[in-house]
Amino acid sequence: MPSLAEINPLAPETAECPFPFYEAMRRECPVYQVPGAGFFIVSRFEDVLHVLRHPEIFSSKSGPGLRPVPDEEILAIMRQGWMPVNTLLTQDPPAHSRYRALVNKAFSARRVASLEPSITAIANDLIDRFINDGEVELVRQFAVPLPLTVIADALGVDRADMDRFKRWSDDSVAPLGGFLTREREIECAKSIVEFQHYFAERLEERRTSPRDDILTDLLNAHIGLEGEESRPLDMAEMLSILQQILVAGNETTTNLIASGMMLLIHHPEVMQRLRAQPELIPNFVEEALRLESPVQGLFRQAVVDTEIGGTPIPAGTRILLSYASANRDEAEFPHADQIDLEREAPEGHLAFGRGIHYCLGAALARLEARIAFTLLLSRLKNIRAAEGKNDYTHVPSVILRGLKALYLEFEPS
Ligand code: HEM
Repeated sequence: MPSLAEINPLAPETAECPFPFYEAMRRECPVYQVPGAGFFIVSRFEDVLHVLRHPEIFSSKSGPGLRPVPDEEILAIMRQGWMPVNTLLTQDPPAHSRYRALVNKAFSARRVASLEPSITAIANDLIDRFINDGEVELVRQFAVPLPLTVIADALGVDRADMDRFKRWSDDSVAPLGGFLTREREIECAKSIVEFQHYFAERLEERRTSPRDDILTDLLNAHIGLEGEESRPLDMAEMLSILQQILVAGNETTTNLIASGMMLLIHHPEVMQRLRAQPELIPNFVEEALRLESPVQGLFRQAVVDTEIGGTPIPAGTRILLSYASANRDEAEFPHADQIDLEREAPEGHLAFGRGIHYCLGAALARLEARIAFTLLLSRLKNIRAAEGKNDYTHVPSVILRGLKALYLEFEPS
């Protein structure tokens, strides 16, 4: 086991395999100030939970990712669209609860459950397209298009535009995770402006031709922030909410499905057990969330002088909450590195956060993953890694964890 001093926290190879780093932090320095980077990482379950329970001390407004302040060149690009406003992920109470109330209904457990037949149809259709090939690149051919199609339908936009959604979604999250070239940073900023103009047009269409979709719901929504009369959302607010739904709903669910299948490939005994007892699939989904944590961590900023687990944190300090590390904390999860399909309280992990920012799409993501594994395991036999094709590397990011590709071979059942 390497010691903390031997690990460079911001090196791409650490992001590729962060688990020894997390373990070293929990053991040696659970609230760790990253040398030269000006922020702390909180690595133990109990300490992460403490921060999540105190949004009045730890604000979300400084943004979820590594680069809080865009420079002049990027700002000039952003001004060609709508400047970002804080709505859900980057807002604090009391305004946060007002925005959240507007979208909760669209993603309630009841609404989500009603989507089961359509999600099943989408997943079956994707499997139909490759089942006779005996091989598949699961990320591109299944894990990406499944959540994209579901979210496109929920938003009420054309499935034919999905390639663009994928690009906008990738380009929205890429800047959060570090490791970008300057060229790519500029490309991402332009892409977000393009996304905004596309959705602004679709929203304008709904003003004259309303439909039963989330875009129309947003146009009809009213909000009254502190000291304001109740009013319709403005364009910047609607776009901010849409961007979060689009981005948060895609990349993360894709990564859960892909990394869950990777776990099954590496643990054939678990795959066999799930085939025999499909009723354990929901527990497996929770274990995949816990072990792989598609959202590795997100930032907060202390608004007053405070402390976390005895470490003083001055006002203004940014803090990376390591959900992925907390999820492997032995103090909370016995034999934390192993898949346990009978874990007590399987939903007790922090992969969806906790408290006021608890993932809006948790019910939807769980349903999509459950359907995905149920259908893949029932329709494909003898699923195995395609010989010599997989290197199991991830898109470089300290915020999200996603496999680049997963090549499988199988026989149709
Ligand atoms: C496996 C899939 C997913 C994972 C791992 C995930 C993870 C998370 C996490 C960790 C948070 C908490 C943020 C914080 O602590 O600041 C969050 C919030 C959020 N998620 Fe998800 N998410 C997933 C899927 C989705 C889906 C499908 C949607 C689509 C609706 C979605 C929409 C959101 C939104 C809008 C927020 C912000 C909520 C707020 O600040 O009140 N997520 N998600």
